Amino acid sequence: MKATAVAHANIALVKYWGKRDDALLLPEAGSLSVALDRLLTTTTVELGAPEDSLRIDGRAAGAAELVRARAVLDAAGVREPARIVSRNDFPTAAGLASSASGFAALAVAACAAAGQERSQRELSALARLGSGSAARSVPGGWAVWEEGDAEQVASADHLPLRLVVAVCGEGAKPVGSRDGMKRSRDTSPYHAAWIAQCRRDLPDALRLLRARDLPALGALAERNALRMHADALAADPPLLYWQPATVGCLHALRRLREQGTGVWATIDAGPHLVALCAPEAAERVEAALRSVAGVRDALVCAPAGGAHVVDQSLHARPL
Ligand code: DP6
Repeated sequence: MKATAVAHANIALVKYWGKRDDALLLPEAGSLSVALDRLLTTTTVELGAPEDSLRIDGRAAGAAELVRARAVLDAAGVREPARIVSRNDFPTAAGLASSASGFAALAVAACAAAGQERSQRELSALARLGSGSAARSVPGGWAVWEEGDAEQVASADHLPLRLVVAVCGEGAKPVGSRDGMKRSRDTSPYHAAWIAQCRRDLPDALRLLRARDLPALGALAERNALRMHADALAADPPLLYWQPATVGCLHALRRLREQGTGVWATIDAGPHLVALCAPEAAERVEAALRSVAGVRDALVCAPAGGAHVVDQSLHARPL
């Protein structure tokens, strides 16, 4: 009763920042993301352990993480204690979205370990109970999440694209996404406008994705991210996720654009910046981001597929 699954992190072009149901992790507005090939989590779930345990990159996870993992298992009907071992092949530093890939891999591995056959939509809904954005890492590719589960709307190879992740800080961020989006919803005077904007952005983004219009899609994604941060900055107390390097990267991309390179930024609830560009521009963008003061690393990613089982060993049941 043991299974291993892999899942990729995803980056949203139309972001999820606000819940309409805090317990069920249901979003106020729909979001659109793309999975990132080099940000991969591998998770093994073994059932029948003496008690629940969760190790991430060799360290015991905190109580809150374990509670979230148990919520996913309970919802899947997996009552037996589980030994969960998760490995990220990227720095789990703040904002590199390890919770999305982590809970997606967990949902898929747990159901496989229990011998359950579940649809991708069911697995997406289960992953959501760990972290909302994890719902989108289950289908992978270009994924839309509006209600209980996410679905793939275009495959990873639909649009030639590179996503250059500039690592702009390290250590845990002061306020996680969960608390940050709640604070924005409850205190930011701009929050209703932000949600209304997302509801306009999602259909527009889907139309641009269908048309493979990277310049317009990239520009929309950058506006959407900056507006999310405007909402966060307007919260009380304010949420400032950026570091000086983050702002340096925004300026560097602006200069590249002035010189004729098509490149656009998005930033999650953390200091790191993700630049979107065509494959042929990736090297130039990577070099420009690496030269920004305070940028610790840059990782060139391509779109990736969904979560899946890579290993499963179920003990034969007696006949
Ligand atoms: C800024 O999915 O981490 O990355 O549902 O509370 O676990 P919870 O939050 P989480 O939030 C992600 C926020 C974001 C935007 C996005 O990925 O859409």
